[in-house]
Amino acid sequence: MSTPETLLPTPTPSPHMPASDGDPFSPGWIARLPYADAELCQSAPATWMEQYGFVATGSHAIVRAILPDWRRFTSTAKPCDDPFSLVPPILVTEDPPEHTEVRKALMQFFTPVALSRNADAFAAAAEATVAKALKRGTVDAVRDIAAAFVLKVFPDMIGLKDEGRELILDFGEAAFNTVGPINEIFRESFERAGPAFAWIEENTRYDTVRPGGLGRAILDLGKDGVISMERAELLLRATIAAGFDTTVLGIANAIGAFLRFPDQWDVLRADPKLIRGTFEEMLRYDPPARVQGRTANVDCEIEGVQFRKGDPVALFLTAAGRDPARWEDADRFDIRRTGANLGFGAGIHLCLGQALARMEFDAVLAALVRQVARIEPAGEGRRFINNAAVGWRELPVRLVGA
Ligand code: HEM
Repeated sequence: MSTPETLLPTPTPSPHMPASDGDPFSPGWIARLPYADAELCQSAPATWMEQYGFVATGSHAIVRAILPDWRRFTSTAKPCDDPFSLVPPILVTEDPPEHTEVRKALMQFFTPVALSRNADAFAAAAEATVAKALKRGTVDAVRDIAAAFVLKVFPDMIGLKDEGRELILDFGEAAFNTVGPINEIFRESFERAGPAFAWIEENTRYDTVRPGGLGRAILDLGKDGVISMERAELLLRATIAAGFDTTVLGIANAIGAFLRFPDQWDVLRADPKLIRGTFEEMLRYDPPARVQGRTANVDCEIEGVQFRKGDPVALFLTAAGRDPARWEDADRFDIRRTGANLGFGAGIHLCLGQALARMEFDAVLAALVRQVARIEPAGEGRRFINNAAVGWRELPVRLVGA
């Protein structure tokens, strides 16, 4: 599939901040995440990125202020906007009132109470996935634990067919790449995702989704006239795009952090209630969602930084999680740490699937804690090279049974 070049004009450099000619979307930079983003964002509260024409910031205070401020920072235009994107233009790309209507309609399916009926299926799948991995001893934590689990529970919950569901990961990968520029990383993943786009299109229609699941419930919003059928289909695809790679990466990113800080695994095994803290610390230390985009609607000052009307702004969650002004000893993974992080965003766009992501994470971590005494590195891991999703492509581990 070919992708046209973006036609949007590049805004003029901002006189209010230092400029950088660095490329935060080059493979070398991305391989060093989250450190590379943190270094950029610690050099100044905000930096004009010359190659792309946007403001980059990873100051916790600035990101925290801008994320919920939809009146002054719209989500309808973002840095590196691609007007030809195949990714569902709904919800994250909208402001009120359009956003409010659709968020309200979708939210009812993602409350902890609504999701609780899946808890037994999640626990059973997690125990089985970990038992299978443990039997093999040495596995890839991304493929054999995180992806194996998520590809079982989430498509089951939506009501997607079994055959071909692994293609969803290619779909999610391509979708996250659209948050960045149309570069080699983007092109490569879009070409690979051709079959995935076709699979998603075919298998998210009313007649192809199994009755009784989340997919049908979302499509029923269209059938019942709550929103248009076209928007209901977009919403289902947006949910699929947002909910797969993020959760796979999140589980693997926590395992990667335990490899680096094995003392924290012992702390967790001694007190499994800290699974909640582990999830929060993963969101801060190695957040699967790298960057959120906004565009300033007005001239304004945030935390002493001047933004101009029309400035596209990239809010680096990776860097906000390592901001020394907010976090003590920020490069240390500490599951007993307290304090709110920005890994799920903030404000009206705060991750809608967060209760589901937590449930999936809890199930896998609980199974690991019960069954596994030690997780050891079994070779070099490879980072996931994606414009906007952060974590591991491959993470070889040796599991030692409890
Ligand atoms: C660890 C896993 C996850 C992470 C780190 C994550 C991160 C985020 C972030 C940072 C945003 C805010 C976007 C913005 O401000 O523009 C967001 C929004 C969203 N997320 Fe997640 N997410 C995760 C899992 C999920 C799951 C499992 C689903 C659904 C199945 C989901 C669905 C959504 C949706 C629909 C939105 C848009 C909400 C809106 O615009 O109102 N996410 N997510």
